[in-house]
Amino acid sequence: MKILFLGDIVGKAGRDIIFHYLPIIKDREKIDLTIANGENSAHGKGITRKIYDRLKENGVDVITLGNHAYSKKEIVEYVDECKDLVFPYNYDNDLKKEPRICVVNDLSICVCNILGSAFMAQNAFDQYRSMNEILADYKADLYFVDLHAEATAEKLLFANYYEDRLVAVCGTHTHIQTADERLIGGCAYITDVGMNGVYDSIIGRDIEEMKAMVIEKKKTRFTVATGPAIFCGVIIEIDEKTKRAVDIKRLQFRPHYE
Ligand code: FE2
Repeated sequence: MKILFLGDIVGKAGRDIIFHYLPIIKDREKIDLTIANGENSAHGKGITRKIYDRLKENGVDVITLGNHAYSKKEIVEYVDECKDLVFPYNYDNDLKKEPRICVVNDLSICVCNILGSAFMAQNAFDQYRSMNEILADYKADLYFVDLHAEATAEKLLFANYYEDRLVAVCGTHTHIQTADERLIGGCAYITDVGMNGVYDSIIGRDIEEMKAMVIEKKKTRFTVATGPAIFCGVIIEIDEKTKRAVDIKRLQFRPHYE
């Protein structure tokens, strides 16, 4: 079985680049399940019902989120209808958050979204307590985790702690792809899958606006950059008999002008 996981989709450019590459990759690599992080897919922050539908129509099976899960308030109304939207399990609020269990080739896969704690702005419950809860309460053949976190060591420790129980731990949130994809036992790991969004940007955001905000201390909006986009993802191969990951391959397509 092959799982394609796409890193944070940032704004329209991010959506368009994945719509361009998805049919090609799915066909060429014989992908069984496509998961994407959509927490920045609506104008750089959050997701809307319309964008959820567009991602689904274009071949994304499950959409994970992150610290911006609730940035577009309307999404709360659609939690029950958007079955393939996975909110961070340990986000500290009272809203319903469950991992998504899907069945592929007769195997159940529990897709989880968990927030890290280091350098993250919002309050989250302990990621280990939350993962233990998921493993106890949601029975599945395979567990895939999108660990939405800032710190490298935090992600690596999590993967090492759970390597015999999880089939993949894929980091998201920093928007910069790391070149450390590897197997930890039978668990596929990468510190960060990277971004699907405008290449000439500060992790998807307009460079000039970031200069004004950080250096000139000006009050700014959150403006998504414009221009050609980078595509980032990983393909994870799983042995269906042993239920262990046997390969992780990194994908990165930069704009052609570079
Ligand atoms: Fe994030």
